[in-house]
Amino acid sequence: MIKDLWYKNAVIYCLHVGTFMDSNGDGIGDFEGLVRRLDYLAGLGITCVWLMPFQKSPRRDDGYDISDFYQVDDCFGTLGDFVEFTHQAHQRGIRVMMDLVVNHTSDQHPWFQEARRDRKSKYRDYYVWSDKRPKDHDEGMVFPGVQKTTWTKDDVAGQYYFHRFYDFQPDLNTQNPAVQEEIRKIMGFWLELGVAGFRMDAMPFVIQTKGADHRHIERYEMLRELREFLQWRKGDAIILAEANVPPDLSIRYFGDDGDRLQMMFNFWVNQRVFYALAAADSRPLAKALEQTREHPATAQWASFLRNHDELDLGRLTDDERQRVFDAMGPAKNMQLYDRGIRRRLAPMLEGDRRRLELAYSLMFTLPGTPVIRYGDELGMGDNLRLRERNCARTPMQWSTEPHAGFTRADKPTLPVIEDGPYGYHKVNAADQRRDPQSMLNWTERIIRMRKEVPEIGWGDFEIVDTGDSRVIAVRYNWRNNSVLCVHNLGGDTREVTLHLGDLAGRKLINLLTQDHSDADGRGRHHIILEPYGYRWYRIGGLGYLLDRTSY
Ligand code: NOJ
Ligand code: CA
Repeated sequence: MIKDLWYKNAVIYCLHVGTFMDSNGDGIGDFEGLVRRLDYLAGLGITCVWLMPFQKSPRRDDGYDISDFYQVDDCFGTLGDFVEFTHQAHQRGIRVMMDLVVNHTSDQHPWFQEARRDRKSKYRDYYVWSDKRPKDHDEGMVFPGVQKTTWTKDDVAGQYYFHRFYDFQPDLNTQNPAVQEEIRKIMGFWLELGVAGFRMDAMPFVIQTKGADHRHIERYEMLRELREFLQWRKGDAIILAEANVPPDLSIRYFGDDGDRLQMMFNFWVNQRVFYALAAADSRPLAKALEQTREHPATAQWASFLRNHDELDLGRLTDDERQRVFDAMGPAKNMQLYDRGIRRRLAPMLEGDRRRLELAYSLMFTLPGTPVIRYGDELGMGDNLRLRERNCARTPMQWSTEPHAGFTRADKPTLPVIEDGPYGYHKVNAADQRRDPQSMLNWTERIIRMRKEVPEIGWGDFEIVDTGDSRVIAVRYNWRNNSVLCVHNLGGDTREVTLHLGDLAGRKLINLLTQDHSDADGRGRHHIILEPYGYRWYRIGGLGYLLDRTSY
């Protein structure tokens, strides 16, 4: 087993160039601005940046509608600026990942333009067509309520085309070998420019067979083909798949022998984390951790709380989903697509610092690699006046200067949050830097500690019985070292009794405060947790780096 797979103990930070920092005062964030903020990111301690789409695009879906895979959109800078950015990131030890959006293109992509104009064009088969409107045209929409159909008539082509997402995002016929060749070329291009890997958009749809009135079948072999190409070009590059699938299917994505994708977002656990926080009930989460336990040793889950999309609760039971809606998104305009919540994390938790720390502490200690979202380190809020998912994509709040110091322009493309408890006068990086107790400094400390606990990223875990469904305790074992993380999901003080069973387990060294624990005469720990309290303990002692006798 290779011992230095970087993604097994990384901390990934996801951001959009366009809303991070504007250097030239046109109201849109750009690569030059991002470069100037790299020291901020290095200080936070993250090890990898995941960039949301920045390629040329009409930007009708925030860049997930690409019209040229080989260009940086003018508004963000040039390819030169991109390379300068990755170079500067590398100098600070930060890797750069990017979105790879190849399930579909923009309808403005020259491939689609040529395909629709000319039936004989080689690009016609890059997309998926039908003469008649397929019977299942009103099925399988990803954005129900906003998107009416998956088949739209193109008057120029005289045929219907398939689109899993919005109608301006025609699906690529990803089974066409010529399209697969294009995908490899795109990957090869960006790898050459220094990226460490790809967050692959809409992975289940990329590998599906597509067609009119056709049962979509996943062709999992494609994943190995992608992996082989990737690693032939760059040995330590990875694919992190966006695939919200049930646990029994995830192994197909990782591959039985770890020969497919290195990483997947753990959507299954994500939904149950929110249920756990909403209902103070750890049981479905504990079960989800067991259900997603099996994966090849070289594969890794990506853990996350909120991302740039709605929080999709579609895989909870109706009752569980309702509990989360009631607690965190009761109003209709907080919800989206009949299945999720579109708010940012801080407002979902009513800005309660104790609950925010609990949520992040829990996320950072889930088996896997944590992925955080820009602004969450400050506890940024949302703007529900913005449509669909834009509410949680507002510009980064740097300071109390106009537009939060994000831009010198009179009007940023997306408005900065100005008023209320999450307005930039109350929530910004400059103020929080000066305050040792701020969310920003807390996040920096927890990231620093997380990196020093590789057991979480690499180890095996066991759920330790606490006798209380409101308190979840997880133990990680790796290389003869163990760590125990305990979280009280509830708003009451709880006392739990834990029995770790081994000799080393008699002493628990608290990694975050001075509050250590010694077992009683019968080897049991009695731990009192304040409301929403959390503990990270190293079991036995701190000498873990010295003690690597067992692998
Ligand atoms: C998933 C992305 O996360 C989402 O933002 C986007 O709209 C769709 N894929 C379509 O690319
Ligand atoms: Ca700019």
